Amino acid sequence: MCGIIGILGKHEVSPQILDGLKRLEYRGYDSAGIATVNRGQLDLRRAVGKLINLSDALVHAPLPGRVGIGHTRWATHGGPSVANAHPHRAGRVAVVHNGIIENFRALRDELTTEGAQFSSETDTETIVHLASQYLEQGVSPIEAARSTLKRLEGAFALAFLFEGEEDLIICARRGSPLCIGHGTGEMYLGSDAIALADLTDRITYLEEGDWAVLTHDGAQIFDAEDRQTNRAMTRINLDTARVDKSGHKHFMAKEMAEQPGVLQAAMGCYAGPGSTGITLPPELDFSATDRLIMVACGTAHYACQVAKYWFEKYAGLAVELDIASEFRYRDPVLGPSNMALFVSQSGETADTLAALRHVKPHVAQVVSVINVPTSSIARESDVALPIHAGPEIGVASTKAFTAQLQVLALLALQAGLQRGVLDARDFAAHLEDLRTVPGYVAQALDREEDIRRLSELLSRARDVLFLGRGVMFPLALEGALKLKEISYIHAEAYAAGELKHGPIALVDKDLPVIVFAPFDGLFEKTVSNMQEVMARQGKVLLISDAQGLAHAGDVPYQLQMPSVPAFIAPIVYAVPAQLIAYHTALHRGTDVDQPRNLAKSVTVE
Ligand code: AGP
Repeated sequence: MCGIIGILGKHEVSPQILDGLKRLEYRGYDSAGIATVNRGQLDLRRAVGKLINLSDALVHAPLPGRVGIGHTRWATHGGPSVANAHPHRAGRVAVVHNGIIENFRALRDELTTEGAQFSSETDTETIVHLASQYLEQGVSPIEAARSTLKRLEGAFALAFLFEGEEDLIICARRGSPLCIGHGTGEMYLGSDAIALADLTDRITYLEEGDWAVLTHDGAQIFDAEDRQTNRAMTRINLDTARVDKSGHKHFMAKEMAEQPGVLQAAMGCYAGPGSTGITLPPELDFSATDRLIMVACGTAHYACQVAKYWFEKYAGLAVELDIASEFRYRDPVLGPSNMALFVSQSGETADTLAALRHVKPHVAQVVSVINVPTSSIARESDVALPIHAGPEIGVASTKAFTAQLQVLALLALQAGLQRGVLDARDFAAHLEDLRTVPGYVAQALDREEDIRRLSELLSRARDVLFLGRGVMFPLALEGALKLKEISYIHAEAYAAGELKHGPIALVDKDLPVIVFAPFDGLFEKTVSNMQEVMARQGKVLLISDAQGLAHAGDVPYQLQMPSVPAFIAPIVYAVPAQLIAYHTALHRGTDVDQPRNLAKSVTVE
């Protein structure tokens, strides 16, 4: 996902903009650039690859000026190149943009016909040519920006900079987040508060459709109907916004290690020590719900897959599940007694947000489980439930996944109680099980050295298969995703019982097969499937507890997890899934925190 920053400063802004872009690196990018206005002159520098290349360009050709905009680009239209990097410029205007202009082809044709010369393959470049055209018609920069916004369709967060204007940045938000920072005689804008954490803790979040005129003295904000409006200024906690690796080699390592504390915090927020109940908003009432629809993407979707087992088992609640990018295009059947639940770490995933907007008019209640309470998904939900995981910077989601599971487990128990399926005794027992999660996750993390050794074997594999049954099947899916996204090894996950219906053809002596199988009611069946793999020389790694490993007999590779209640096993078994991927990636030397092609939050559909 692209990153945007802008500064109206009292000093040279290029160094601060570059620092802000470094704070946005976690979003994933493949090129970057900065534009400034100095003594009336608009100029820009752009570079492909990591920010060090832009920094070199600025050393060789400094970019003076006390007003500027910067951008990290995650390529959508047009590959990574200097020509496609932002800022884009036409005449007296430069723009940085996050999102997709869905009508860019029609605009490009129109502008080309009128003589515009395009120099990139991007959708963004149509924005600067439109604004430049308005300027040439003699309108003011503010009017040029406002008129340009009216012509755009799609999702964007963007910022305009104008030649000759050293006290002006115009920015707009439609479908992609954007916030304004308040300084002393300075003003800022950024894709999120993390980008501005070194500059200010006073943040105003633009609402959907807002656009704003920034000067050194402040911001005028206008809504989608161009009515001047006020948006609250909040003070953010700089400690959480200022992210660093705290001595770890990677953000992912730090965030995996944070899990016991994060899970403790999540538990503390909803069921503090000694409490006998779960504290949730009173309007959250599962007893009136006839069906729960859960929609998410990627790892968040796998959390929903786990939660489906819990809602059905402990609350007797019918659950429909789908990935967001498919959900709204299949004409889902929605009803006035349905509850829709959206899970998203960033709260800005475009597919998930679009699905939320699709269902909202048709269901009783929209609930979200998110990690960013100020995010779009949180703000558009009837009930938003934070997971309190703190900023998750590594592209591969780890602590957010286990925290999502912890909160979803609490919701399932609450639903069971409200629907009369769980009696007070069973509710209390399962709640106590959840209180043990942080400790068991810490024990699972202690197996890291064993996992590091086992991962060396995996790092030489061409393909890897993950298997699980029941609630362990979504864990297999999550393990395969983790391995794919940070080690670039092809990995697939199958329900263990499904293997014999085709995928077992893949099994040979070169294929590692990772099996998630705590000693539970499905263990024997899973072990049978595992035996089928071993009979064909598949290299099996069995992840189980002491009882399971003892029952399984001679398995080439084994990893022992603590023996835990079946209810919480999915949360604990997430840890080996994460560590296997992490250490395999280390063996392969890939970029663990910013894997190729990926963005931390995908704000385009
Ligand atoms: C998970 O490791 C990936 N980074 C990705 O699948 C992610 O879970 C997905 O894009 C959803 O993101 P969200 O939770 O911010 O909505």
